[in-house]
Amino acid sequence: MQVMRVVDDASRRAALAKGAELLRAGRLVAFPTETVYGLGANALDEAAVQRIYDAKGRPAINPIIVHVASLAAARELALDWPVSADAIARAFWPGPMTIVVRKQSVVPDIVSAGGNTVGLRVPAHPLALALIEQARVPVAAPSANLATQVSPTTARHVERGLGDRVDLIIDGGPTHVGIESTVVDVTGVTPRVLRPGMIGRDAIARVAGAAESHGVRASAMPEAPRSPGLLGKHYAPRGRVILVDPDAMHDVARTQRRSSRVGVISFGAIDGDVVRVMPREPHAYARGLYAALHAMDAERCDIVLIERPPDAPEWAAIVDRLERAAR
Ligand code: TXA
Ligand code: MG
Repeated sequence: MQVMRVVDDASRRAALAKGAELLRAGRLVAFPTETVYGLGANALDEAAVQRIYDAKGRPAINPIIVHVASLAAARELALDWPVSADAIARAFWPGPMTIVVRKQSVVPDIVSAGGNTVGLRVPAHPLALALIEQARVPVAAPSANLATQVSPTTARHVERGLGDRVDLIIDGGPTHVGIESTVVDVTGVTPRVLRPGMIGRDAIARVAGAAESHGVRASAMPEAPRSPGLLGKHYAPRGRVILVDPDAMHDVARTQRRSSRVGVISFGAIDGDVVRVMPREPHAYARGLYAALHAMDAERCDIVLIERPPDAPEWAAIVDRLERAAR
């Protein structure tokens, strides 16, 4: 495995050339997007996509998002292109938005995990866009972490999690959004949010007329797995995560520290063995969240206490990830 750091024009050119060459050769390339690092492979090459599943230990029932560089390239992979898909794409691409449409047969079944839909996304990161353009293929890419672990927001996180399972890591620095894209399914009558993200349901409803949530809180089990990746434990560090109400933080931390090495992720100063004080603004919080969770792993915390954020729409995607981590 090789890490290529992008610091100037020359290193950028070299990393993109190498990355594009490897993708065309059926290899795995980790690259930054604006949300989290992706583990990329040529989406049209079945054997290459199989390598993604193997590297992550990802269940074969979990479909992979395909990244393209333009709306026109996305449409080529879609069997049809609903009006709502067009409205959402025009409003939010490039950006942290994945649109699930019925797939064209050119998209291998392994990408869609046997289903008849495909999730498409035009990422907003310049290195991701340039890589896809130079590779001249659509790029299938889940988050570049082992299945069930915390998504990577730096090249170092990818390296620690996947090591030699990946052929190249393009290091473009820390990612900006910090949590994964919103996934919206437009194959039904009303667009349906399958995975919340920093682009919220209200913003989607404004451009598409209406939008519904998956209607399943992370703490409940869905009756039908519309998006299999949303099942089960996810986004979790190795230590046990407990979501704690603000008023109880001090007491819970004090009690737990008698028997465990305790990590604390809070909005204010709380005593813990490892402490990360987080911003009270949701975008800044999202940007720093996974680095904080990775730090709890690196510091070998047995228990991670996380102060519950406000119950407000702008925090919904963050609370979703925290509740999954706490399962
Ligand atoms: O921000 C992101 O979306 C990142 C970056 C790399 O683009 N990718 C990402 O991929 O988070 P992944 O595989 O870790 O999560 C994708 C989620 C999974 O929950 C998966 O089940 C769901 O999207 N998904 C993908 N394709 C789908 C489809 N055709 N139908 C329903 N859900 C789908
Ligand atoms: Mg993931």
